[in-house]
Amino acid sequence: MKRDVIHTAATYIQGKTTIQPTIGLILGSGLGVLADEVQDAVKIPYNDIPEFPVSTVEGHAGQLVIGTIQDVPVIAMQGRFHFYEGYSLEKVTFPVRVMKELGIETIIVTNAAGGINESYNPGDLMLISDHINNFGTNPLIGPNDSELGVRFPDMSTAYCPKLRALAKDVASELNIAVQEGVYVGNTGPTYETPAEVRMLRVVGGDAVGMSTVPEVIVARHAGLHVLGISCISNMAAGILDQPLHHDEVIETTEKVKKQFLALVKEVVKQIPQH
Ligand code: HPA
Repeated sequence: MKRDVIHTAATYIQGKTTIQPTIGLILGSGLGVLADEVQDAVKIPYNDIPEFPVSTVEGHAGQLVIGTIQDVPVIAMQGRFHFYEGYSLEKVTFPVRVMKELGIETIIVTNAAGGINESYNPGDLMLISDHINNFGTNPLIGPNDSELGVRFPDMSTAYCPKLRALAKDVASELNIAVQEGVYVGNTGPTYETPAEVRMLRVVGGDAVGMSTVPEVIVARHAGLHVLGISCISNMAAGILDQPLHHDEVIETTEKVKKQFLALVKEVVKQIPQH
């Protein structure tokens, strides 16, 4: 990853707003509504930003939204880039580098995911405690720029325990039930087979999706604190006697929207600012 390319994108964004975000948000499928809660929002379509890839998948608006949530300056990605769309992992994770360059210290990464853990239900929110990178590759493969991060990043607390504890406290204050579990990142775009879901359960997965892992790897490389939240949009393949469909993912996220918004807004408010 070339630093001047990151700088070019960041400089363009800085030219559009005087707000200096401290928290970044990546909003997953059906969860982009959070961007509508941003006050004094400056919206920048991805395709206006030099060096940014362009999002294609349905359900993703594809813009940066910069403003405040509960008076906290934030930058939100309404829609993300997926490996299955054909972008390299370098492209997929490029916005994380740019948000870091813009000064964020914390990133909240959200997604819709299939429940592997049979005690989960569609509509549950899950705080991500850890992940399994099942992409078969890694966004940090290649020469390492030590200005961006270390060659061999520690991933033992990829999902910040303090932020997770804060999110749990906020959830109980707000009477929102949250699960906590391990997210498995697959490339997609196929949903898993039932046999794959059984395998993922055996290896310790609680939920499965097609994003998040690359972005979190790069966020940790960049020294950002990470909070991960999955919306369990459906039970993973083979658990219920029904086929999976993207419409179901969007419908379920629509149903938990209120709780998701309330949780994230309050967490943003309570994250310590440095
Ligand atoms: N599998 C993978 N990705 C997903 C799923 C799923 O069941 N649901 C939403 N994203």
